[in-house]
Amino acid sequence: MADTLTVTDNRTGKQYEIPVTDRSIRATDLRQIKLTPDDAGLSTYDPAFMNTAACRSRITFIDGDKGILEYRGYPIEQLAEQSTYLETAYLILFGELPTAPQLETWTREITLHTMLHENIKKLMDGFQYDAHPMGVFLSTVGACSTLYKDSKQIFDAELRQKQIHRLIAKVPTIAAYAYRHSIGRPYVLPDNQLSFTGNFLNMLFRMTELKYDVNPVLERALDVLFILHADHEQNCSTSAMRAIGSSHVDPYSAMAGATAALYGPLHGGANEAVLRMLNEIGTVQQVPGFIKRVKAGEGRLMGFGHRVYKSYDPRAKIIKQTADSVFEVTGRNPLLDIALELERIALEDDYFVSRKLYPNVDFYSGLIYQAMGFPVTMFPVLFAIPRTSGWIAQWEEMLLDPEQKIARPKQLYVGATRRDYLPLSKRA
Ligand code: ACO
Repeated sequence: MADTLTVTDNRTGKQYEIPVTDRSIRATDLRQIKLTPDDAGLSTYDPAFMNTAACRSRITFIDGDKGILEYRGYPIEQLAEQSTYLETAYLILFGELPTAPQLETWTREITLHTMLHENIKKLMDGFQYDAHPMGVFLSTVGACSTLYKDSKQIFDAELRQKQIHRLIAKVPTIAAYAYRHSIGRPYVLPDNQLSFTGNFLNMLFRMTELKYDVNPVLERALDVLFILHADHEQNCSTSAMRAIGSSHVDPYSAMAGATAALYGPLHGGANEAVLRMLNEIGTVQQVPGFIKRVKAGEGRLMGFGHRVYKSYDPRAKIIKQTADSVFEVTGRNPLLDIALELERIALEDDYFVSRKLYPNVDFYSGLIYQAMGFPVTMFPVLFAIPRTSGWIAQWEEMLLDPEQKIARPKQLYVGATRRDYLPLSKRA
C-alpha cells in the first residue's frame, strides 16, 4: 500500500488521503481541502522555505545533523584530498568523474575560453576606482549576456555547453580584472600553460616578471577551497539562479542575480564579515566581552551557524587543515588566535550549544584568503568563482526538469480590503 497522510478537516468533518512520496507531500495536493466548491483550497505557508523542497536534484547531498556533504555521491573529504577544482566542476556538471581523455578535453575547452573580449575590459574600466570588486564582478557577468547572444538559446544543448565553458573559464579572469582595477594595476592576460588556480594567481598578482612563479602550496590550497565551495544544493544564491533561470532568461543574466544573492553578508559576504569582526575584536582578551554582547543580541558571531548544518560544517574542518599549510608559507595570520579563542568559548557556551551553532565554511576561509594577500572585498568574489559550476549545474537541471515551471510563490494577503480612491483634496 502506498504511504499516505490522513488529514481530517475539523471545519467540515471531511477526511482526505494525501500521498507521501520521498518523505514529503505535494503542496498542491492540499488544494482539494476546501470549505466551499469555489474556495481556492488550502495552501502551505513557509516563509524563507524552511521546510519546502522546490525541486528534485541529483547534484549535492547534505545531511546537516551528521555533517555530511557529497557531490554526486562522492564525500567532500575525498574530493578535497584527491580531486582538483576543474575535475570536481566536471563531476558536478555531468554527474560522473571524467575519464582521462574527457578531463583532457574539458581542461582544454576551459583553457581556450579564459580571455575576455576587449569591450568587456572597457566596460570594467568604467567603474569608479574604489568600486567593490563583487559589484564589478556581478555587473560584468550580467553584461556578458549582451555579448554572447547565442546564450539566449537555452534549449540548444550544444550552445548551452558553450556558455558553460565560457562561464567556468571567464569568471577567474573577470574576478582578477575586478581586483586589478580596484588597486589601479594593469590587467594581466591569462597564461594557458598554468593550472586553473595557478593562472588565477598569475592574473591577480603578476607584476613585471616575464613568467609568474606559482607557489604550489597556495595553488593547491586555492584549489581545495574552490572544491569546497563548488556547490551546496538549494542555498540562497542557487535558489536565486533557479528562480531567475525559470523565466528562461540567458545564464549570464541569471548568474548575475545569483551573484547578487551571494554578495549579502548572511551568505557569501560572511567571510568578509568574519574578518571585519575579528579586526574589531582586536585582541584575545576582548573575546569574552564580545561573546557576551552577541548573547545579549547585540550582533551575531559571524561565521557561526547555518540553516542546514546543525553540527560542525564538514567544509570548516577541511579549511582549518588547509589553513595550517598556507600559514607555513605566508606566516601565521595574527587574527587566528582570536578566531581559535572565539571557537573554543562558543563551543563550550550553552547559548551556542543549545542553538547548535558551529563554525561554518566562512569562519576560517577569510583568514586563509587574507594570509594569501587578498583584500576582504575579494572574499565574496573568491566564493563566486567556484560556485559558478554549482549554479550552472543547478540551472541546467532545472531547465531540463519537466516538473519545473516559472517560479512563482503564493502569498497570504493581509493588506487593506477594497476601498475607494480619495481625491487629494479630501484626504486628511
Ligand atoms: N551568532 C549568534 N546567534 C546566532 C547566530 C550567530 N552567528 N546564528 C544564529 N543565531 C541564533 C539566532 O539569534 C536565533 O536565536 P533565537 O532562537 O534565540 O532567536 C537562533 O540562533 C536561530 O537563528 P536563525 O537566524 O533562525 O537561523 P537561520 O537558519 O535563519 O540562519 C544563518 C542561518 C543566516 C547562517 C545564521 O546562523 C547567521 O546569521 N550566521 C552568521 C552569518 C554567517 O556566518 N553566514 C554564512 C552562512 S554559510 C554560507 O552562506 C556560505
